Amino acid sequence: MSAVPPSQSRGFYDESLLRRHLEQAAAKLPGPDYYVVLRWIHEILQPKTYIEIGVRHGASLRLALPDTLCLGIDPAPALIGGALPNERIFPMTSDEFFKRHDLGQALGAPSFGLAFVDGLHLWEQALQDFIHIERFAGPESVILIHDCLPLDDLTSQRNRTTDFYSGDVWKLGVCLKQRRPDLRMATVRTGPTGLCIVSRLDRKSTILESRRDEYVERYTRLIFADFETRPERSPATVGNDRDAIRSWFAEPPETRPGRDLKARISTTS
Ligand SMILES: C[S@@+](CC[C@H](N)C(=O)[O-])C[C@H]1O[C@@H](n2cnc3c(N)ncnc32)[C@H](O)[C@@H]1O
Repeated sequence: MSAVPPSQSRGFYDESLLRRHLEQAAAKLPGPDYYVVLRWIHEILQPKTYIEIGVRHGASLRLALPDTLCLGIDPAPALIGGALPNERIFPMTSDEFFKRHDLGQALGAPSFGLAFVDGLHLWEQALQDFIHIERFAGPESVILIHDCLPLDDLTSQRNRTTDFYSGDVWKLGVCLKQRRPDLRMATVRTGPTGLCIVSRLDRKSTILESRRDEYVERYTRLIFADFETRPERSPATVGNDRDAIRSWFAEPPETRPGRDLKARISTTS
């Protein structure tokens, strides 16, 4: 989501509209915002490595735990105070990064712990980011996708005209749910526009890549009304609550993902 907290509001388009959108979002998705939820997830999973696509000022990047190696990718990073010792920033687009770098080498590990997709807010770019990252997934890896619960039609258009802006990233949730039933997904009902958790990733899966053009053509046609009237097409949601999220990760044995993920869930968090 591109709506910054009111204290940092740029009001580039229309400040009063931004305030109204923030109020509407808070009414629709009450409780802690995605920054709080992201921190909970770091505390629950305690990942060794974290990748963030779209870092801007570093507000979400800096929610990682101090011992987590963080890799941030953004063509226009504006981190407050520059990079911290546990952060490596790549000032380039995500496509450029994955063309020029091997994520495994950059992390010094064959797979990643946690990733957050929050770069360009067009769903096909988020799909491409997901495809790129999943190639480095292990049994313990988790990908978070921002903005899967859009507020309304205007703020989820592909062409941005508002400060509060999610783009059409929600379509990635619909696409993954339909095309990758092997994944395990849930969207946290956190404001301002939801945070989708994806686990049971498969680095060998090729369907998204091989059918990418067909999917882009098909899902780009969806409109906000499809999101509102067909909620069953989107990933199921989970409460905006630390215990609910923790329970989701610690799922029952019959649907348990890789043992590694379960083992990582801290008993103290
Ligand atoms: C919504 S902001 C990220 C906010 C940040 N994750 C947070 O929660 O505080 C989106 C960021 O994505 C970056 N961005 C835009 N296009 C991108 C691309 N193709 N690859 C990576 N980052 C991109 C922008 O420069 C911007 O800083």
